[in-house]
Amino acid sequence: MVIAVYPGSFDPITYGHLDIIERAAAFFDRVIVAVCLNPGKQPLFTMEERVEMIAREAALLPNVEVNCFKGLLTDFVKRENARIIVRGLRAISDFENEFQMALMNRQLGPEIETVFLVAHPEYSYLSSSIVKEVASLGGDVGGLVSEQVAGHLQKRFALHGSA
Ligand code: PNS
Repeated sequence: MVIAVYPGSFDPITYGHLDIIERAAAFFDRVIVAVCLNPGKQPLFTMEERVEMIAREAALLPNVEVNCFKGLLTDFVKRENARIIVRGLRAISDFENEFQMALMNRQLGPEIETVFLVAHPEYSYLSSSIVKEVASLGGDVGGLVSEQVAGHLQKRFALHGSA
C-alpha cells in the first residue's frame, strides 16, 4: 500500500492542482491532499474553506482524501505512514524552490521520497496567485478553476472589494 501526500497552499485549488491529483490517484494506492501553511504566503481562504473546496473537487476519486495540518510536512507524512510527497512542476522557475524543499524534506525524513509530476501544458502557466489577481479585478476565471471555486472567489472579492 503506497500512500502519497500532495501538500500545498491550494488557495484556492485550480485545474492545474486537480490534474496532478487525478494523475497521482492513478498510480498511488492512496493520495492525501494536505492543505498546509506556507509561511511565505498570506492566504485568502481559511484552511477549512480550502479543504472543503478540494473535497468537493475530489469527491469522485475514491482513493483521494483531503486533510490539513500545521507544522512540518515531514511530520505529517510520517504520522500518516506515507512514503511519498507529490509536487507538481510547471516550469524551470519552479525548480529551484522545489529542489530546495525536496532536499530539506529528505534531510528531515530520509525515508520519504519526493516525486515530481510535470504539469499538463494547458495548465503550466496557472497558479492560485494569478487566478486570485484576475478574480480580484473582475476577470473571468472560468476554465482555470471549477464553478464552485469561481463562486467562492467572486463572493470573497465582492466582500473585500477589488485589490
Ligand atoms: O502550494 P505551495 O504554497 O507552493 O506549497 C508549499 C508548501 C505548503 C508545501 C510548503 O510551504 C510546506 O511544506 N509547508 C509546511 C511547512 C514545512 O514543512 N516547511 C519546510 C518544507 S522544506
